[in-house]
Amino acid sequence: MDLFHYRKNELYCENVPVRRIAATTGTPTFVYSLGTALMHYQRLLEAFDGHEVQICYSVKANGNLALLAALARAGCGFDIVSAGELYRVRRAGGKARDVVFAGVGKTADEMEQAIRAGIGMFNIESWSEAKLLDRTASKLGRRVRAAFRLNPDVDAHTHAHVTTGRKDNKFGLPIEEAEDLFARARRSLRQIEIMGVHMHIGSQITEVAPYTKALARALAAIRRLRARGHEIRTLNLGGGLGIVYHRERPSTAKEFAAAILPLLRGQNLRLLIEPGRFVVGNAGILVTRVIYLKETPSRTFVIVDSGMNDLIRPSLYDAYHEVVPLALRASRGPRRRVDIVGPICESADFLAKDRLMPIPKPDQLVAVRSAGAFGFVMSSNYNGRPRAAEVLVDGGRFWTVRRRETHADLVRGETVPEAILRGRRRS
Ligand code: LLP
Repeated sequence: MDLFHYRKNELYCENVPVRRIAATTGTPTFVYSLGTALMHYQRLLEAFDGHEVQICYSVKANGNLALLAALARAGCGFDIVSAGELYRVRRAGGKARDVVFAGVGKTADEMEQAIRAGIGMFNIESWSEAKLLDRTASKLGRRVRAAFRLNPDVDAHTHAHVTTGRKDNKFGLPIEEAEDLFARARRSLRQIEIMGVHMHIGSQITEVAPYTKALARALAAIRRLRARGHEIRTLNLGGGLGIVYHRERPSTAKEFAAAILPLLRGQNLRLLIEPGRFVVGNAGILVTRVIYLKETPSRTFVIVDSGMNDLIRPSLYDAYHEVVPLALRASRGPRRRVDIVGPICESADFLAKDRLMPIPKPDQLVAVRSAGAFGFVMSSNYNGRPRAAEVLVDGGRFWTVRRRETHADLVRGETVPEAILRGRRRS
């Protein structure tokens, strides 16, 4: 599952003791195992062995430049949702033509940047967007390729906040309107070649059934579209493959491929997938230091130097992240039920609730596991907290690939108007 393991009672990331990293960078720090991320990417490739599939890693899960650079060099494409993510991909040496661009709110400016860069495909999420993309491409004198993102109305059996394929979600276009949509596109879009169908039904999906259900609906729509003369060449199934945080038993890459490949046989469709969490989720931990223990008549709080501004998933989705000590020996003792909380002034600021574990002592280091996806990318400066450092480990080597922010970073871009400095007067 990942390359974090104990050696002589001490937590290692690949061949590096995590304690050594913490001694270098301080805490809180995200530590990524490159070997784990590449292993998951390879597993997907192998699962689809022999079938044409383009893997477009979903940058939103973790956009760290060093990780993106390593994935680009391994031949991976990218799924983006903003011009900012496109900038990252290009800075990391990713090829624009291997980029697909989704999202319900692309602006004309973002479209323009993506067209100029020459991205592979837009995933269009509304008719208004299709019209704006057509106008923008026309202004630049370019033709672009696109797919319509269809919403199949299936239940992905995942958390409500990360479900995207139900008819009440803001994503995609209703699948039952596909024929109408493609017909309208043929009539009125001049600069867009609509070449496929895109879908993404949710995230942290642990079963294959929602995928096969959505795929069956997509294939039925594609059959109807082809019967009307539309050339459909690609099918993008999106991301969403679940990982183990706690006791989940997610289907494996092999099981996923084995379930969908038979349905695609003979369909003459190029397959794209956009995994994010599957690649990086288990490849990262958040290392944090215990500051205080605080006992109240009803609870035991372990107060650490990292909080919801670093990892918001527990607060936002009630997500479970395992918390383990860096040194096993130091943490032996009777187990108690504790809440692991941060320094943020919010009751929602917790990393773990009701966790049965030996009580860690002040100064002890612990790791919050499976923090590689939607960890750093969702972090903020709330409560005036500089964002954490990021470290990449590869075998026995490690590098700080993003330095911890400083207090100067906190105010970067802010100015105090002269008039305020002089003392405010009524104008
Ligand atoms: N493709 C599209 C169009 C997406 O919207 C997403 C994720 C993905 C691919 C990648 O999904 P993945 O394979 O990583 O599940 N912040 C939430 C997850 C939000 C996912 C948003 N879209 C969390 O921490 O659970």
